[in-house]
Amino acid sequence: MSSRNPIGVFDSGYGGLTVLREITEALPGYDYLYLGDSARSPYGNRSFETVYQYTLQAVKWFFDQGCSLVILACNTASAKALRTIQQNDLPRLAPGKRVLGVIRPTAEIIGTYSETGVVGVLATNGTVASGSYPIEISKFFPALQVIQEACPMWVPLVENNEMDNKGADYFVKKNLEQIFDKGPEIDVLLLGCTHYPLLKKTIEEYMPVGVKLISQGEIVATSLADYLQRHPEIAAQCSREGRRAFYTTDSTTDFDQHATVFYGGPVSSQHVDLDATMH
Ligand code: DGL
Repeated sequence: MSSRNPIGVFDSGYGGLTVLREITEALPGYDYLYLGDSARSPYGNRSFETVYQYTLQAVKWFFDQGCSLVILACNTASAKALRTIQQNDLPRLAPGKRVLGVIRPTAEIIGTYSETGVVGVLATNGTVASGSYPIEISKFFPALQVIQEACPMWVPLVENNEMDNKGADYFVKKNLEQIFDKGPEIDVLLLGCTHYPLLKKTIEEYMPVGVKLISQGEIVATSLADYLQRHPEIAAQCSREGRRAFYTTDSTTDFDQHATVFYGGPVSSQHVDLDATMH
Protein backbone atom coordinates (compact mmCIF):
# COMPACT_ATOMS: atom_id res chain seq x y z
CA MET A 1 0.00 0.00 0.00
CA SER A 2 3.02 2.31 0.25
CA SER A 3 2.43 4.04 -3.09
CA ARG A 4 -1.08 4.88 -1.96
CA ASN A 5 -2.28 7.29 0.66
CA PRO A 6 -4.81 5.59 2.93
CA ILE A 7 -6.41 7.25 5.95
CA GLY A 8 -4.69 5.78 9.00
CA VAL A 9 -6.83 4.65 11.93
CA PHE A 10 -5.09 3.75 15.18
CA ASP A 11 -6.04 2.13 18.46
CA SER A 12 -4.27 0.30 21.26
CA GLY A 13 -6.13 -2.85 20.18
CA TYR A 14 -9.50 -3.65 18.66
CA GLY A 15 -11.57 -0.74 19.98
CA GLY A 16 -10.81 1.60 17.10
CA LEU A 17 -12.47 -0.88 14.77
CA THR A 18 -15.85 0.26 16.16
CA VAL A 19 -14.92 3.71 14.86
CA LEU A 20 -13.48 2.44 11.57
CA ARG A 21 -16.71 0.57 10.98
CA GLU A 22 -18.74 3.80 11.12
CA ILE A 23 -16.15 5.76 9.15
CA THR A 24 -16.11 3.24 6.29
CA GLU A 25 -19.88 3.25 6.25
CA ALA A 26 -20.01 7.04 5.99
CA LEU A 27 -17.02 7.42 3.62
CA PRO A 28 -16.64 4.08 1.81
CA GLY A 29 -14.62 5.33 -1.16
CA TYR A 30 -11.38 6.14 0.69
CA ASP A 31 -8.57 3.67 1.39
CA TYR A 32 -8.06 2.84 5.08
CA LEU A 33 -5.14 1.41 6.99
CA TYR A 34 -5.89 0.18 10.52
CA LEU A 35 -3.26 -0.51 13.16
CA GLY A 36 -4.06 -2.12 16.52
CA ASP A 37 -1.18 -2.18 18.99
CA SER A 38 -2.56 -5.32 20.64
CA ALA A 39 0.87 -6.48 21.84
CA ARG A 40 1.02 -3.46 24.18
CA SER A 41 -2.70 -3.07 24.90
CA PRO A 42 -4.33 -1.87 27.11
CA TYR A 43 -2.98 1.66 27.22
CA GLY A 44 -5.52 2.79 29.83
CA ASN A 45 -3.35 2.29 32.92
CA ARG A 46 -0.05 3.37 31.36
CA SER A 47 1.80 6.61 32.08
CA PHE A 48 1.58 9.72 29.90
CA GLU A 49 5.13 9.21 28.67
CA THR A 50 4.55 5.57 27.68
CA VAL A 51 1.27 6.26 25.85
CA TYR A 52 2.92 9.20 24.09
CA GLN A 53 5.95 7.13 22.99
CA TYR A 54 3.80 4.23 21.73
CA THR A 55 1.42 6.54 19.90
CA LEU A 56 4.23 8.54 18.31
CA GLN A 57 5.81 5.31 17.11
CA ALA A 58 2.51 4.30 15.51
CA VAL A 59 2.03 7.71 13.89
CA LYS A 60 5.52 7.54 12.36
CA TRP A 61 4.72 4.08 11.01
CA PHE A 62 1.53 5.42 9.37
CA PHE A 63 3.54 8.22 7.79
CA ASP A 64 6.04 5.67 6.46
CA GLN A 65 3.11 3.81 4.87
CA GLY A 66 2.18 6.97 2.98
CA CYS A 67 -0.70 8.26 5.12
CA SER A 68 -1.30 12.03 5.13
CA LEU A 69 -4.09 11.80 7.68
CA VAL A 70 -4.15 9.67 10.83
CA ILE A 71 -7.08 9.32 13.22
CA LEU A 72 -6.29 8.29 16.78
CA ALA A 73 -9.45 6.20 17.31
CA CYS A 74 -8.41 5.75 20.93
CA ASN A 75 -9.48 8.11 23.69
CA THR A 76 -6.47 7.27 25.84
CA ALA A 77 -4.02 8.14 23.04
CA SER A 78 -6.10 11.22 22.12
CA ALA A 79 -6.02 12.35 25.77
CA LYS A 80 -2.38 11.63 26.50
CA ALA A 81 -0.47 12.00 23.24
CA LEU A 82 -2.39 13.96 20.61
CA ARG A 83 -1.62 17.51 21.71
CA THR A 84 2.14 16.89 22.06
CA ILE A 85 2.25 15.15 18.68
CA GLN A 86 0.31 17.98 17.01
CA GLN A 87 2.30 20.77 18.64
CA ASN A 88 5.83 19.36 18.97
CA ASP A 89 6.30 16.44 16.60
CA LEU A 90 4.26 17.20 13.48
CA PRO A 91 5.91 20.53 12.63
CA ARG A 92 9.30 18.77 12.78
CA LEU A 93 8.37 15.38 11.27
CA ALA A 94 5.77 16.11 8.64
CA PRO A 95 4.31 19.63 8.59
CA GLY A 96 1.89 18.79 5.76
CA LYS A 97 0.37 15.77 7.50
CA ARG A 98 -2.45 15.72 10.03
CA VAL A 99 -3.24 13.70 13.15
CA LEU A 100 -6.75 13.98 14.63
CA GLY A 101 -8.31 12.50 17.76
CA VAL A 102 -11.73 11.46 19.00
CA ILE A 103 -12.19 13.65 22.08
CA ARG A 104 -12.71 17.02 20.43
CA PRO A 105 -15.41 15.94 17.94
CA THR A 106 -17.24 14.24 20.81
CA ALA A 107 -16.91 17.29 23.08
CA GLU A 108 -18.29 19.54 20.33
CA ILE A 109 -21.63 17.74 20.26
CA ILE A 110 -22.22 15.93 23.56
CA GLY A 111 -24.00 18.84 25.27
CA THR A 112 -26.75 18.89 22.64
CA TYR A 113 -28.03 15.51 23.85
CA SER A 114 -28.60 16.57 27.47
CA GLU A 115 -31.69 18.17 28.96
CA THR A 116 -30.64 18.07 32.61
CA GLY A 117 -27.24 19.62 31.88
CA VAL A 118 -25.43 16.70 33.52
CA VAL A 119 -23.40 14.29 31.39
CA GLY A 120 -21.59 11.14 32.51
CA VAL A 121 -18.33 10.04 30.89
CA LEU A 122 -17.17 6.44 31.18
CA ALA A 123 -13.52 6.01 30.19
CA THR A 124 -10.17 4.46 31.04
CA ASN A 125 -8.09 5.58 34.03
CA GLY A 126 -5.79 7.47 31.70
CA THR A 127 -8.52 9.40 29.93
CA VAL A 128 -10.24 10.29 33.22
CA ALA A 129 -6.97 11.36 34.91
CA SER A 130 -6.05 13.57 31.95
CA GLY A 131 -9.19 15.66 32.51
CA SER A 132 -9.47 15.98 28.73
CA TYR A 133 -13.25 15.52 28.57
CA PRO A 134 -14.20 18.12 31.21
CA ILE A 135 -11.66 20.55 29.71
CA GLU A 136 -12.75 20.10 26.07
CA ILE A 137 -16.48 19.97 26.86
CA SER A 138 -16.28 23.21 28.88
CA LYS A 139 -15.04 25.01 25.73
CA PHE A 140 -18.27 24.22 23.89
CA PHE A 141 -20.76 23.85 26.76
CA PRO A 142 -19.46 25.92 29.70
CA ALA A 143 -22.54 25.27 31.86
CA LEU A 144 -22.57 21.51 31.38
CA GLN A 145 -21.65 19.41 34.40
CA VAL A 146 -19.38 16.48 33.51
CA ILE A 147 -19.13 13.52 35.88
CA GLN A 148 -16.43 10.97 35.08
CA GLU A 149 -16.00 7.35 36.05
CA ALA A 150 -12.91 5.30 35.30
CA CYS A 151 -13.71 1.71 34.34
CA PRO A 152 -10.27 0.05 34.35
CA MET A 153 -11.60 -3.50 34.03
CA TRP A 154 -13.76 -2.95 30.97
CA VAL A 155 -11.04 -2.96 28.29
CA PRO A 156 -9.38 -6.17 29.58
CA LEU A 157 -12.83 -7.82 29.64
CA VAL A 158 -13.47 -6.81 26.04
CA GLU A 159 -9.95 -7.65 24.82
CA ASN A 160 -10.34 -11.11 26.38
CA ASN A 161 -13.73 -11.70 24.82
CA GLU A 162 -15.45 -11.83 28.23
CA MET A 163 -18.08 -9.22 27.45
CA ASP A 164 -21.05 -11.60 27.62
CA ASN A 165 -19.96 -13.32 30.83
CA LYS A 166 -20.69 -12.78 34.53
CA GLY A 167 -17.43 -10.89 35.13
CA ALA A 168 -18.57 -8.21 32.71
CA ASP A 169 -21.95 -7.99 34.49
CA TYR A 170 -20.22 -7.46 37.82
CA PHE A 171 -17.89 -4.67 36.71
CA VAL A 172 -20.40 -2.87 34.49
CA LYS A 173 -22.98 -2.81 37.30
CA LYS A 174 -20.37 -1.63 39.81
CA ASN A 175 -19.13 1.31 37.68
CA LEU A 176 -22.64 2.35 36.66
CA GLU A 177 -23.80 2.37 40.29
CA GLN A 178 -20.81 4.52 41.16
CA ILE A 179 -21.34 7.10 38.42
CA PHE A 180 -25.09 7.42 39.08
CA ASP A 181 -24.40 7.75 42.83
CA LYS A 182 -22.18 10.72 42.00
CA GLY A 183 -24.64 12.18 39.48
CA PRO A 184 -28.24 11.03 39.77
CA GLU A 185 -29.26 13.76 37.27
CA ILE A 186 -27.08 12.35 34.49
CA ASP A 187 -29.27 11.94 31.40
CA VAL A 188 -26.50 11.30 28.85
CA LEU A 189 -23.86 8.63 29.26
CA LEU A 190 -20.87 8.83 26.94
CA LEU A 191 -18.83 5.75 26.14
CA GLY A 192 -15.50 7.58 26.19
CA CYS A 193 -13.47 4.55 25.17
CA THR A 194 -13.72 2.91 21.77
CA HIS A 195 -13.81 -0.57 23.33
CA TYR A 196 -16.96 0.10 25.33
CA PRO A 197 -19.57 -0.20 22.53
CA LEU A 198 -18.90 -3.95 22.75
CA LEU A 199 -20.40 -3.87 26.28
CA LYS A 200 -23.45 -1.90 25.16
CA LYS A 201 -25.95 -4.68 25.82
CA THR A 202 -24.77 -5.14 29.40
CA ILE A 203 -24.52 -1.38 30.04
CA GLU A 204 -28.11 -0.90 28.86
CA GLU A 205 -29.26 -3.55 31.31
CA TYR A 206 -27.82 -1.71 34.30
CA MET A 207 -28.39 1.94 33.46
CA PRO A 208 -31.50 3.87 34.53
CA VAL A 209 -34.38 4.08 32.06
CA GLY A 210 -34.46 7.30 30.04
CA VAL A 211 -30.69 7.87 29.99
CA LYS A 212 -29.21 8.23 26.50
CA LEU A 213 -26.18 6.09 25.73
CA ILE A 214 -23.77 7.70 23.26
CA SER A 215 -21.00 5.86 21.36
CA GLN A 216 -18.41 7.78 19.39
CA GLY A 217 -18.28 5.92 16.07
CA GLU A 218 -20.96 7.90 14.32
CA ILE A 219 -19.85 11.21 15.83
CA VAL A 220 -16.26 10.69 14.66
CA ALA A 221 -17.38 9.58 11.19
CA THR A 222 -19.57 12.67 10.74
CA SER A 223 -16.80 14.90 11.99
CA LEU A 224 -14.26 13.32 9.61
CA ALA A 225 -16.58 13.83 6.63
CA ASP A 226 -16.93 17.45 7.67
CA TYR A 227 -13.16 17.82 8.13
CA LEU A 228 -12.42 16.44 4.65
CA GLN A 229 -14.90 18.88 3.19
CA ARG A 230 -13.36 21.82 4.99
CA HIS A 231 -9.82 20.70 4.08
CA PRO A 232 -9.89 19.82 0.37
CA GLU A 233 -6.08 19.98 0.25
CA ILE A 234 -5.92 17.00 2.68
CA ALA A 235 -8.85 15.16 1.07
CA ALA A 236 -7.16 15.45 -2.34
CA GLN A 237 -4.06 13.66 -1.02
CA CYS A 238 -6.04 10.65 0.32
CA SER A 239 -6.39 7.81 -2.18
CA ARG A 240 -9.82 6.46 -3.04
CA GLU A 241 -9.88 2.88 -4.25
CA GLY A 242 -12.03 1.53 -1.43
CA ARG A 243 -9.15 -0.56 -0.01
CA ARG A 244 -8.91 -1.74 3.64
CA ALA A 245 -5.75 -3.07 5.24
CA PHE A 246 -5.36 -4.23 8.85
CA TYR A 247 -2.17 -4.51 10.88
CA THR A 248 -1.54 -5.75 14.39
CA THR A 249 1.55 -5.74 16.57
CA ASP A 250 0.47 -9.13 18.02
CA SER A 251 -0.71 -12.47 16.64
CA THR A 252 -2.69 -12.09 13.40
CA THR A 253 -4.80 -15.18 14.15
CA ASP A 254 -6.02 -13.73 17.45
CA PHE A 255 -6.49 -10.32 15.90
CA ASP A 256 -8.59 -11.61 12.99
CA GLN A 257 -10.84 -13.62 15.32
CA HIS A 258 -11.54 -10.72 17.69
CA ALA A 259 -11.50 -7.98 15.11
CA THR A 260 -14.35 -9.45 13.13
CA VAL A 261 -16.66 -8.87 16.09
CA PHE A 262 -15.62 -5.21 16.45
CA TYR A 263 -15.55 -4.42 12.74
CA GLY A 264 -18.67 -6.34 11.86
CA GLY A 265 -17.08 -8.06 8.87
CA PRO A 266 -14.17 -10.35 7.99
CA VAL A 267 -10.71 -9.06 8.84
CA SER A 268 -7.44 -10.45 7.54
CA SER A 269 -4.52 -8.74 9.23
CA GLN A 270 -0.77 -8.58 8.77
CA HIS A 271 1.81 -8.38 11.51
CA VAL A 272 4.09 -5.43 12.16
CA ASP A 273 6.83 -5.02 14.75
CA LEU A 274 6.88 -1.29 15.46
CA ASP A 275 10.25 -1.42 17.26
CA ALA A 276 11.87 -3.08 14.25
CA THR A 277 10.56 -0.44 11.86
CA MET A 278 11.93 2.50 13.85
CA HIS A 279 14.88 4.39 12.46
N1 DGL B 1 -9.84 1.97 23.12
C1 DGL B 1 -9.02 2.86 23.80
C2 DGL B 1 -9.72 4.09 24.29
O1 DGL B 1 -10.57 4.55 23.62
C3 DGL B 1 -7.94 2.37 24.66
C4 DGL B 1 -8.23 1.43 25.71
C5 DGL B 1 -6.97 0.94 26.36
O2 DGL B 1 -6.04 0.53 25.64
O3 DGL B 1 -6.91 0.95 27.59
O4 DGL B 1 -9.43 4.65 25.31
